[in-house]
Amino acid sequence: MPDTPELTRRPEWAALEDHRAEGQPVLRELFAADPARAERYVVRVGDLYIDYSKHLITDETLALLQELATATGVFGLRDAMFRGEKINITERRAVLHTALRAPRDAVVEVDGVDVVPAVHAVLDKMGHFAERVRSGEWTGHTGKRIRNVVNIGIGGSDLGPAMAYEALRAFTARELTFRFVSNVDGADLHEATRDLDPAETLFIVASKTFTTIETITNATSARTWLLDGLGGDEKAVAKHFVALSTNAGKVTEFGIDPDNMFEFWDWVGGRYSYDSAIGLSLMIAIGPDRFREMLDGFHLVDEHFRTAPAEANAPLLLGLLGVWYGNFFDAQSHAVLPYSHYLSKFTAYLQQLDMESNGKSVDRDGRPVDWQTGPVVWGTPGTNGQHAYYQLIHQGTKLIPADFIGFAEPVAELSGELKAQHDLLMANFFAQTQALAFGKTAAEVRAEGVAEEQVAHRTFRGNHPTTTILARELTPSVLGQLVALYEHKVFVQGAIWNIDSFDQWGVELGKVLAKRIEPALTEGADVSGLDASTTALVSTYRTLRK
Ligand code: F6P
Repeated sequence: MPDTPELTRRPEWAALEDHRAEGQPVLRELFAADPARAERYVVRVGDLYIDYSKHLITDETLALLQELATATGVFGLRDAMFRGEKINITERRAVLHTALRAPRDAVVEVDGVDVVPAVHAVLDKMGHFAERVRSGEWTGHTGKRIRNVVNIGIGGSDLGPAMAYEALRAFTARELTFRFVSNVDGADLHEATRDLDPAETLFIVASKTFTTIETITNATSARTWLLDGLGGDEKAVAKHFVALSTNAGKVTEFGIDPDNMFEFWDWVGGRYSYDSAIGLSLMIAIGPDRFREMLDGFHLVDEHFRTAPAEANAPLLLGLLGVWYGNFFDAQSHAVLPYSHYLSKFTAYLQQLDMESNGKSVDRDGRPVDWQTGPVVWGTPGTNGQHAYYQLIHQGTKLIPADFIGFAEPVAELSGELKAQHDLLMANFFAQTQALAFGKTAAEVRAEGVAEEQVAHRTFRGNHPTTTILARELTPSVLGQLVALYEHKVFVQGAIWNIDSFDQWGVELGKVLAKRIEPALTEGADVSGLDASTTALVSTYRTLRK
């Protein structure tokens, strides 16, 4: 094991601890002392205006955090990632989701081979197929045009396309129906298909490995549903099933024609994959041109992350702010609160991106870490959360840093009163970050004539840190920019914590145990090796089931 200094023993870490020990910065005071703070603590990337002035930081904090980034080798690891080096050490893989959005004339090599031509060949093949489905040229087995597209996948093979479809709904072919099935609970596929005509339905089986039990089980049931509905002719599968995968062998074994397979590669992590072939359902929904606009948005932020100086590098800044709160304030979670109905699945998508990447407790050399790693990421769209859990953020005992994401324009489809509602939505957006930052003092409450016994209850201590991300409109490009921003933020944090952000061994144990337990449920088989509690639960389950 190389003898690298432990993170918490670095002088840059100690300097941050000393800085933190100087006391809690107070936002009211920081803004009063520096009238230019709101302009200075802003970074613009592409269409994103990112205000980080409402954070518990000073210029000194930022300088110390940047020194930590330099000392921990964030920039070297970043460059190694973009160069295609195998920085996913436990799986010995390159990490090259950035190559998925590289322009046609770029060169990105993995093991000496330029991967960009293959990326664009698959995008072209996807584009051709998407256009055929959208135009009605691709018909089902009976000659009827496809009107329903059902994506079957889980984790990164579901969350990305499902989130992006929802986000870009206003840009989708409204005459087509899109559904996303992920849960092995049969109810998911049942609800997704119960009102569909099999003759008009295309299934997209999305699985990097093509061995994921949930996806293969659902895909098998979908095939049965299709064949039952179309009179049992096996030939129907070729017109109603396509696959998105890295595993041609398993796709063929399942019975899907390899011509109907859209390929990606082992250097694309599942949670980083929706801009690969995994985005086919989205591409059918929004069309190839919009999909490419989205890729350009990703690429814009990739280039920013790769080249912008540290003090103006948005993913770096957001990553460092997370480190500041997690490691020096002991914050346990991070809220992402989009003020857009269309981003209703955005936080769920970020949960996998962040928590599967940075939910680790050993460093890159396998040594236990003694510092906090990834936060619990959570949140739902505003204003709904305001009438549910915001109470705890405002007046509870926990420090919860939060990102507020909003747009100046509603989608173009809205008009009249519905369009006018946008200003009310955004008034709430701005009001919340103001209230969180500046609160309401007891003196201010008293000045309103509130009875003394109620003053404490109605006081807001404020000083809750937030980032505001504002853009004109939620377009395909802006969505790509937002996702890339978070991808690279997660990267920065993993680099500082010296963990492998690109493996996910933590999901394996549950999978293995489920395989062991299943025969006890389906066949009543005895399963040795279960603990006493699980044995009792399994036996109670067997008694309860009909
Ligand atoms: O949960 C583990 C995981 O491997 C995720 O990383 C991945 O996105 C998901 O399962 C689905 O995997 P696949 O695309 O191979 O079916």
